[in-house]
Amino acid sequence: MSAIRLEPIAGSDLGLKVALTNAHLPTDDIEDEGRTFFKAVSADGRIAGFSGIERCGGDCLLRSVVVLPDRRDEGLGRAVVEETLANLDHAGDIFLATTSAASFFANIGFAEVQRASVPAAVLATRQLSSICPSSATIMKLITPST
Ligand SMILES: CC(C)(COP(=O)(O)OP(=O)(O)OC[C@H]1O[C@@H](n2cnc3c(N)ncnc32)[C@H](O)[C@@H]1OP(=O)(O)O)[C@@H](O)C(=O)NCCC(=O)NCCS
Repeated sequence: MSAIRLEPIAGSDLGLKVALTNAHLPTDDIEDEGRTFFKAVSADGRIAGFSGIERCGGDCLLRSVVVLPDRRDEGLGRAVVEETLANLDHAGDIFLATTSAASFFANIGFAEVQRASVPAAVLATRQLSSICPSSATIMKLITPST
């Protein structure tokens, strides 16, 4: 059983916005169409973090993965990503962009990919086209999370 459960929330959720802002993750587009966000609640009922999925063509962008600072290093980040992916009902690929947590995602089955191999609809997301700096690492889920 996972250490957390996910509950869908609106992009306008204040806790989401505060957590992303404090983690220096983008918030400019969180209320736009095509995004789904979750809050992660741990067994004690407390909010542990947040995550989001953005649809891009037939593929998805995993985004806005954050664990609250006082809850980090307990395995919750891995649980948040695994639960988010487990809830995903789609046939395409899953991409993400990160400037600081590439090795965290590599541990969970993502591998770095070059921009040239990334579908246009994914590159066109605001995460990849404008919000994230060009130095961001783009990753793709290679190993299904178990
Ligand atoms: C990245 C983040 C979600 C990890 O959450 P966490 O709950 O601390 O992660 P876990 O406890 O599940 O860690 C799992 C493993 O990843 C490692 N890890 C954690 N954060 C890491 C980071 N930023 N970079 C590299 N490795 C990291 C842990 O050491 C652990 O390794 P181990 O299994 O060998 O012990 C959290 O640090 C965070 O919210 N950071 C700010 C937001 C962010 O950068 N999000 C990613 C971009 S969308």
